[in-house]
Amino acid sequence: MPPIGPSTLDADVYRDPQRYELERTSVLNNSWQIICRSSQIANPGDFHVWSGNGENVVITRRPDGGLAGFHNVCQHRGTRIVPESGTGARRFTCRWHNWAYDIHGRVTGVPDRPDFDREALKGLSSPTIDLEEWGGWVWAVLAGPGVAGPLLDWLGSEIAGELSAYRMEEMRLADKVEWEVDVNWKVCVDAFSEYYHAQALHRIPAADVKDARQSTMDVFGRNGMMVVPLQGALDDLRSTLDHNALAICNYNLFPTAVFNCHRVHTQLFRAVPLAVDKTRFEAWELQYDTDDEEYNDSAEMHWEVVKAIVQEDVDEWTNVAAVAGSSAYRQNIFNERECLITHFHRVCDDMLAGGNGLGLEPKHARDSATLH
Ligand code: FES
Ligand SMILES: [Fe+2]
Repeated sequence: MPPIGPSTLDADVYRDPQRYELERTSVLNNSWQIICRSSQIANPGDFHVWSGNGENVVITRRPDGGLAGFHNVCQHRGTRIVPESGTGARRFTCRWHNWAYDIHGRVTGVPDRPDFDREALKGLSSPTIDLEEWGGWVWAVLAGPGVAGPLLDWLGSEIAGELSAYRMEEMRLADKVEWEVDVNWKVCVDAFSEYYHAQALHRIPAADVKDARQSTMDVFGRNGMMVVPLQGALDDLRSTLDHNALAICNYNLFPTAVFNCHRVHTQLFRAVPLAVDKTRFEAWELQYDTDDEEYNDSAEMHWEVVKAIVQEDVDEWTNVAAVAGSSAYRQNIFNERECLITHFHRVCDDMLAGGNGLGLEPKHARDSATLH
């Protein structure tokens, strides 16, 4: 464990509407976040409409294979230009008064143009977003190009290297489940950043919990990593250090994504903030693309188990929501094994204060005993 130690956190971090507004502008919109799978917009003209963090964007596959994306907001009177994802786009037309946009968000057509003030229309665009593809995912920075730097720098070489081992770009999206939950987005991120709740909420057998206490955790830049030995695999893991095969590896990608990687399949657990007390929680299931029936059956079986476990996490948020406004809910008390949560909140705080969320790892984090 990195020497982060226990901590406390004021309950208002999860329920202050002003803070939520700041998080949107200073944290969420300024960070690389996953939008969809590359395969969802595979062909030229395929486009994907995404909403989250109070924003709405449309991303299009260009004829040259790259991506173009912009805020899906008509600059005339502020309506959504493109209602839903589709195919065959060369340009988009707002149906209210027929303003036309190219796939970069530039206004290319205005009916009765001379009726407008010429200056107001000059060079008009809906703001563009930054886009990259990696691991078979489409990533975006909603605040635009140049804000968060290149994606791989943002992820950091350690986490990018770790995730590369799972070859997510070769996997297929086998399933996706969404829940709308009445809790702050950080409640969802926290819930997938510790193993402490597994014995109580998921009723994991005591022997496995004992092994899981040997889990390793680490922080890299803004991100966290947790390696939980598979049932009965601790001895092998210790001798081979093959964590990709013998453990479940959790990668907490700041701010809203947690990858849960297992040798058979991988999940992305992701919180999409909708309001201070509303979140779209998503579980994406990736499986290797093969005709091997034995593999497919086993992956499906694993996924059924994971889905049932995640449902228990989601169900618990009903209880969190029930007391979020209570005067008796004053703070969270995190133990040292919940240190990835502590680190995550420190990064959030730093970005809210205008920092870049880097350099907050404890000094000896890299020297701590880890399995990789
Ligand atoms: S609001 Fe889009 S064209 Fe008028
Ligand atoms: Fe859980």
